Amino acid sequence: MKKGKILVAGGMGYIGSHTAVELINAGYEVLIIDDLSNSNADVLDGIEKITGTRPVFVQQDLKDKEATRAILKANPGVDGVILFAAYKAVGESVREPLKYYRNNIVTLINQLELMAELGIKGIVFSSSCTVYGQPDVSHLPVTEKAPIQPALSPYGNTKQINEEIIRDTIHAGAPFKSIILRYFNPIGAHPSAEIGELPNGVPQNLIPYLTQTAIGIRKELSVFGDDYHTPDGSCIRDYINVVDLAKAHVVAMDRMLENRSDEPVEIFNLGTGHGVSVLELIQTFEKATDVKVPYRVVGRREGDIEQVWANPEKANKVLGWKAEVSLADTLRSAWNWQKRLRERGIQ
Ligand code: WQD
Repeated sequence: MKKGKILVAGGMGYIGSHTAVELINAGYEVLIIDDLSNSNADVLDGIEKITGTRPVFVQQDLKDKEATRAILKANPGVDGVILFAAYKAVGESVREPLKYYRNNIVTLINQLELMAELGIKGIVFSSSCTVYGQPDVSHLPVTEKAPIQPALSPYGNTKQINEEIIRDTIHAGAPFKSIILRYFNPIGAHPSAEIGELPNGVPQNLIPYLTQTAIGIRKELSVFGDDYHTPDGSCIRDYINVVDLAKAHVVAMDRMLENRSDEPVEIFNLGTGHGVSVLELIQTFEKATDVKVPYRVVGRREGDIEQVWANPEKANKVLGWKAEVSLADTLRSAWNWQKRLRERGIQ
């Protein structure tokens, strides 16, 4: 007997695919809708290899409300939605803001309207610590009560706007609940190396660029600045294992569908609670894998904040969730995934 049926919107992506695996492991039936704009169909093989179950997958742009409605009517009984589907490249969002506002906001509005229409009880929304901007250093580690700062990019602004749309819609009486999850920096891959992060083109994020450098695809890793006000001068982030992050979505969905909270909207920071600098991360990777990473310190990257890490106590206490996987094991999983991609001739 299945626990329920979950629509994973954007479920062929990095975090979505890992969450689909953990939902299936927890006894949920999973329906994936994804436009494959930043992923590919063979991710489904990886999900099946890990879980023994091949979820129903429909390729569809979620900005098309009529088409999305038809898919949900053809796959009835969805109890909850996890919305990952969004464009997420910070730099691209600065160059093409309207592409980001249309995609990330219309996708959410369609989901909320279809949830009310079809009796779907809850939505877990993928948000980001980017809403905090650069917290006041005296406010680190950052809690959910930290002030929301003006977004540094259209991408970050779509996360802030979407959180407000959810709150306003539910406040106006929409017949569903929401849990908003603010991710810090998701990294790593499934320990099976069947699924992982598959960036298109030149990776913007640190870990895929680092592992591509380690395997020889890239000549050297550029460290964007070592003149920040941090112990070693490089930026500090809270790097969270992607499987730990995926498990938090299952716990959040359980909480919502079992009506364990009186609050119609809850917000949780998902991080380890530990800040790690870029240089520390490189050293940890080299020690964990015994692989050298050629790097050069260059100028700062525009838009980077200096240091942020989570206070995850609310998620620990209220969700009963905690990040478990060590940074070393997480970096080893990223390296194993990069080697698997090489074996498959993908990168
Ligand atoms: C991490 C650190 C860089 C690349 C962004 C989004 C966030 C989320 C994750 C979507 C920074 C440094 C990076 C490189 C480097 N996006 N770096 N050399 O910017 O913290 O967060 O991605 O979900 O919302 O804001 O992640 O991995 O790009 O950078 O030195 O080649 O690594 O300066 O300090 P970021 P990142």
